[in-house]
Amino acid sequence: MAKKEKPDQFIDDQSKRIDGREINELREVNIEVGVLERADGSAYIELGDNKIIAAVYGPRELHPRHLQEPDRAIIRYKYSMASFSVGDRKRPGPGRRSKEISKVSKEALESAIFLEKYPKSVIDIFVEILESAAGTRTTCLTAASVALADAGIPMNDLVVSCAAGKVDDEIVLDINELEDNFGDADVPIAMKPNTEDITLLQMDGDLSRDELEKSIETAKQGCKILHEEQKKALKERYGGE
Ligand code: CDP
Repeated sequence: MAKKEKPDQFIDDQSKRIDGREINELREVNIEVGVLERADGSAYIELGDNKIIAAVYGPRELHPRHLQEPDRAIIRYKYSMASFSVGDRKRPGPGRRSKEISKVSKEALESAIFLEKYPKSVIDIFVEILESAAGTRTTCLTAASVALADAGIPMNDLVVSCAAGKVDDEIVLDINELEDNFGDADVPIAMKPNTEDITLLQMDGDLSRDELEKSIETAKQGCKILHEEQKKALKERYGGE
């Protein structure tokens, strides 16, 4: 497990980060499609030490009926960290953090899905973090969108998500746990890769306007790499283009 103390420097004289990565390098990523039998769609993702399962159920009729929208489906998104997924045991159940992440993640996916095709319905998305190592909200979204594709839900694009951050006055791609805990800023984004429309943008920490723009640009580059991995995983499962 990662040390919990602030390192003297995050980037060494050879421009390498504490985990040996380059400034613009993503952690190792692996995506697998269709890992759960009972779900309509599912995906498993590892990004560095993050291990996450996404499961999609639906579209199915929404009950109770007063929650239904007459002209479209609604999305429910549940972000959940297993109590054993973090260094210190996490209190089970949804706290304020999980609720906030679930809300913004749902909104990050909505514009990609043809919701109007399924009036009065619900699409349930569950993301379960088995092991967490910074960047979970983004990694969950990347997996959730693959699980939606696996469920055959019509979408105008995948959604892909990644963070950049600031450490030692440098903008770095895909911050790890120490960089997240002791660095200066964290900028998670989600985007639709074909149009580069941003569907989630958050910022934690202090950044100048220029640094924020550079962070977004850096995170976008990470999203493009992750998008290739999403497509590769879907091709492995289904073949074709
Ligand atoms: O995971 P993400 O970067 O999207 O969210 P965060 O709120 O910036 O949390 C960063 C990291 O802190 C998580 O990925 C976990 O590794 C850790 N964390 C934790 O150890 N215990 C919690 N209750 C919440 C987060």
